[in-house]
Amino acid sequence: MSSTVNAVVNLDLEGPVINRHVYGHFAEHLGRCIYGGFYVGEDSDLPNEGGIRLDVVEALRALDIPNLRWPGGCFADEYHWRDGIGPKEDRPAMVNTHWGGVEENNHFGTHEFMALCELLGTEPYISGNVGSGTVQEMSEWVEYLTRAGDSPAVRERKANGREEPWKVKFWGLGNETWGCGGNMSAEQYALEARRYATYCRDYGDNKLYRIAAGASDFSYGWTETLMKQLSHLGCQRVERPLYQAVSVHYYTIAGTWEDKGSATEFTADEYYTTMAKAARTDELLTGHANVMDLYDPKKEIGIVLDEWGTWWNVEPGTNPGFLYQQNTMRDALVASLHFDIFHRHADRLVMANIAQTVNVLQAMILTDPDSGALVLTPTYHVFRMNKGHQDAASLQVHVVGDAPVKDVDGASLSTVSVSASRKDGRLLVSLSNLDADEAADVVVDLRGGTLTSLESELLTAGALHAHNTPEQPEAVAPRKHDGARVEDGKLLVHLPAHSFATVAGDVA
Ligand code: AHR
Repeated sequence: MSSTVNAVVNLDLEGPVINRHVYGHFAEHLGRCIYGGFYVGEDSDLPNEGGIRLDVVEALRALDIPNLRWPGGCFADEYHWRDGIGPKEDRPAMVNTHWGGVEENNHFGTHEFMALCELLGTEPYISGNVGSGTVQEMSEWVEYLTRAGDSPAVRERKANGREEPWKVKFWGLGNETWGCGGNMSAEQYALEARRYATYCRDYGDNKLYRIAAGASDFSYGWTETLMKQLSHLGCQRVERPLYQAVSVHYYTIAGTWEDKGSATEFTADEYYTTMAKAARTDELLTGHANVMDLYDPKKEIGIVLDEWGTWWNVEPGTNPGFLYQQNTMRDALVASLHFDIFHRHADRLVMANIAQTVNVLQAMILTDPDSGALVLTPTYHVFRMNKGHQDAASLQVHVVGDAPVKDVDGASLSTVSVSASRKDGRLLVSLSNLDADEAADVVVDLRGGTLTSLESELLTAGALHAHNTPEQPEAVAPRKHDGARVEDGKLLVHLPAHSFATVAGDVA
């Protein structure tokens, strides 16, 4: 059995550009994300540069990751950046209270993070400490990183071996300030955000893009409070809004926060609930964007979804504070569905960051704590297959007639999801079939242009819970798809049950 979906794409009607930063990443001092994941130290037997794992760098370079958020998360509001500079043996240790109560030796700090970004060819996104820090501390971090010439913080940087300032654009004003970042009310934080933003200065041609810490899930009131504060500026000489974006966090969990369910063992019902929860990202972005439209109809303030992804119970036997979870074909479909939604919200969504890149939550890469073996997850493959959408013009996909749906927990879930974009004369179409058991055929009427070449890739597996391990690293891996062709100006794509496909080609 298979269902058919008919759609129309106008190749010559380009929509808003999909900001490459929606393919962004997140690395926190949490579990084995930094230590053992990105960073193993100079003395490690694993190939490294300045302690940074080169196999991790190589794998991530293939994704063209546009930005990396660091040092947290909840950790950011406990982090004091001066503890992480200077000779490693002199750096004070601290307790990572949020994540397992383990000791943090601060060997991975500002210089190591900036070196990592350079190796990855990615832009840094630094999340500053509002919860337990001070305005002065944050202000001096910006100065240390981005100021040229001479000043106390610049002299400090130079003494630590870095002559030239770095370029840093993305700057987070705290994290989850309604919770781990200070348990503030929206009104209280909005005033703090204005104050912190004031002293995070632009030095030379380094222009910060300040991101106010936003809402959890569907708390639209938080977004509204931040937007209201922006439109009540005290000083008329401020040339642009004090912060340029407002963030939001949304995780996909199938169960409850107390029992989120297993990453690898789940029922069909739990699978569909997961997809329905992931699909709500559309409602989430629409809701926050609608609130922002009231205060900012020109859409100058961006939405930054700087934490998203699946959150399951930790793998049995691992530290509950380390958030280490496996990653299956189900996670891959959660990712592909999110990207379709992101592409549809290209007018307001300027950035999104998967939580997190290595060894934590919905990771791209899992590393074995004993052997060091590196495994690419099914989610990694979705990021790689979709990277052509970065900075491409979105193309609207108009579904014609009925499309397959499933009733999930009293709501309707479309089981076929498609998005498309065009860049440099190339079309990229992404297609997900969320149905666990049935195939789907998608017929896309391509108007306003002709596809003169076609390449297709398919990601699927015998079972939804299939995942990769050091023993079976390619249990879920993309392959060339021969189920896609063009006939009479129509693109025909066959999608097996629970699969993700991309079709790319030149447009004339
Ligand atoms: O990504 C894990 C945690 O989830 C982050 O530290 C926090 O911001 C969120 O609650």
